[in-house]
Amino acid sequence: MKKDLLTFNDLTRDDVLHLLTRAGELKQERRAGVFHYPLRGKSLGMIFNKHSTRPRISFEVGMNELGGHSFFLTGDQLQLKRGESLRDSARVLSRYLHGLLIRTFDHQEVVELARWADIPVINGLTDLSHPVQVLSDLFSIQEKLSRIEGVKVAYVGDGNNVTYSWILAASLMGMHLTVATPPDCRPPMPKTRASAGVVELMHDPLEAVKDADVIYTDVWISMGQEETEVKVRKLRPYQINQELVDATGGEPLVMHCLPAHRGMEITSDVMDGKNSIVFDQAENRLHAQKALLETLLSR
Ligand code: CP
Ligand code: NVA
Repeated sequence: MKKDLLTFNDLTRDDVLHLLTRAGELKQERRAGVFHYPLRGKSLGMIFNKHSTRPRISFEVGMNELGGHSFFLTGDQLQLKRGESLRDSARVLSRYLHGLLIRTFDHQEVVELARWADIPVINGLTDLSHPVQVLSDLFSIQEKLSRIEGVKVAYVGDGNNVTYSWILAASLMGMHLTVATPPDCRPPMPKTRASAGVVELMHDPLEAVKDADVIYTDVWISMGQEETEVKVRKLRPYQINQELVDATGGEPLVMHCLPAHRGMEITSDVMDGKNSIVFDQAENRLHAQKALLETLLSR
């Protein structure tokens, strides 16, 4: 049966551990110039209704390196834009493609596509969730700390799609996640299927980061949202700066899913500083997504 990745609830702990192991192997093989082509002859459709740098490029490179092919499509180019239903589109695309990646606004569109598609559907970000981001972030943490379980991640900033995925991932993988947001920027709360971890929502960033192994942030204004002075003002105390890094009491990894707005959610000195792993984190999208493609599309 086909398997989709719409949210972290589609993954088991063993699925994640397998993907992290494969990501590590694929990364090493790539560095050694060794390539296998398990997706030879397979095609991935990629529908982007929002901007993208990382997944748009890394999924395309990933398919190429696995021997497959990808098609970059914007919703505007498809008959979807002219009213063809998601149901009919999914059924037709399933006859041509071996997998479908979609980045869009309304999460229900991805759910509807997956319902009618006979091929795996991968959520490349919706307003609700961003599972491929957090999957590769787990790989980055494992790579740097050699463990996932028990790691304390402090998410500081706007509660959004990335936070939503972090809540599910931490619950699944037995992590300790603290989320510090202003009171009216809380994340959408998922129904967690697993409860191996500890998730705490709070408003004080200093309390959230205490003893954290990882400090994580994301943009204050997500795609599709309007930037208002009021929201930016509320989020100012949630900036990741050196004072916040020092407040952990240790040497945390600093992570950001990117794109970053330097001087807003993160200062330039911290983003370029010794604790930051943001560019390794961005690179790891490629390796983790290759592991995902290989697993879902060669079934
Ligand atoms: N982090 C991430 O998904 O990046 P883009 O928005 O550039 O695609
Ligand atoms: N929360 C951000 C993530 C970007 C990768 C957004 O949705 O724009």
